[in-house]
Amino acid sequence: MKTNRNFKNLKENYLFAEVSKRVQAYNNEFPNSDVISLGIGDVTIPLSVKAVEACKNAAIEMSTRAGFHGYGPYDGYPFLKNAIVDYYKSRGITIDADEVFVTDGAKNGIGNFLDLFDTDNTVMIPDPVYPAYVDANVLSGHKIVYVDATKENGFLAMPPKRVKADIIYICSPNNPTGAAYNAEQLKQWVDYALENQAVILYDAAYEAYIESKGIVRSIFEITGARDCAVEFCSFSKMAGFTGVRCGWTVIPMCSPLNRMWLHRQAIKFNGTSFIVQRMAESMLRGGYEDTRKMVAEYKSNAKIITKKFDSLGIQYTGGVNAPYIWFDCGIDSWQFFDYLLKKARIVCTPGSGFGKNGDGWVRLTSFNSRERTEEAVTRFEAFWKDFIEVRDKLFEPVR
Ligand code: MLT
Repeated sequence: MKTNRNFKNLKENYLFAEVSKRVQAYNNEFPNSDVISLGIGDVTIPLSVKAVEACKNAAIEMSTRAGFHGYGPYDGYPFLKNAIVDYYKSRGITIDADEVFVTDGAKNGIGNFLDLFDTDNTVMIPDPVYPAYVDANVLSGHKIVYVDATKENGFLAMPPKRVKADIIYICSPNNPTGAAYNAEQLKQWVDYALENQAVILYDAAYEAYIESKGIVRSIFEITGARDCAVEFCSFSKMAGFTGVRCGWTVIPMCSPLNRMWLHRQAIKFNGTSFIVQRMAESMLRGGYEDTRKMVAEYKSNAKIITKKFDSLGIQYTGGVNAPYIWFDCGIDSWQFFDYLLKKARIVCTPGSGFGKNGDGWVRLTSFNSRERTEEAVTRFEAFWKDFIEVRDKLFEPVR
């Protein structure tokens, strides 16, 4: 038996596994230390009552002969696919139900999508970005080229002039920086993809957080995108489904990837459960208001953090169209992570875990509760004042 040789090219742990390993070690050493997590982007607001009602009703339906469901369609039940079509329609975007594939989350959808591509494709990935893209491509043995997202370009990587790619990842609003593309910027990516006969894998998992005018919520708002893009979306951050698991992928019918993905799913996936799909449907139909409230609550947490950062003079991005705040700590990101945990008992995510351009930067999430976010901000203020005093004495600057 030969194992996948690409495994040796991965880092020892996936970023969030490494974060939780360090937090676990800290908790073992200092039990009851009341650590606050602003690390992994996991939601904390309980499910909407409407989702729970839909769950109960679906379970009861399954307990009857007439309402029992076994294996579902590989691409999802029509009731959820149609609700997703209407969700796009409400924003002026026309897609067909045959273009929608229900998944058990955007992360799985994006990772598994690599089954459709030859390994001799060149994959273009912005740096910094959600680490699952890089790790999934390292595993599948693709050649990766990076495009820089830095403070200078507002953390929005733009298409390079002379580098060609076949597969392009875009995450907007961006995880981890919170930066988000406008239509004119995204059009440049669509044009680049069309020119290079490339495909854009567009991760729109945070689209529900967009509030600024002119920021794009779906790549299909852009002319030409139907000829070069696939969009991944999720109920995780929109409806608190990180533990429920449901997402979707939109693949235009004109792309050969549409039929290929259906075929792939038939081989390797027996569908998201009927009960979960009913829960997801309830969020797009009568429960949409509840999702808006959840998103608003997380965004008000983001505001608590950014207001404090403003008063402390900390340089940051995000927190407006995204649940993430990305700030400049000026030192090695993992050193900062350890120091913040030790001194303030706050968990962050080190920027370098998202790529080399993330070093010296740190990501906080707004997904904890209001109360814990307020407590974290109070601790952070005291921590930061002390950190600024000692930074130059104790740490090497990264830039
Ligand atoms: C994150 O913290 O980046 C996300 O929660 C990870 C994910 O969505 O899988």
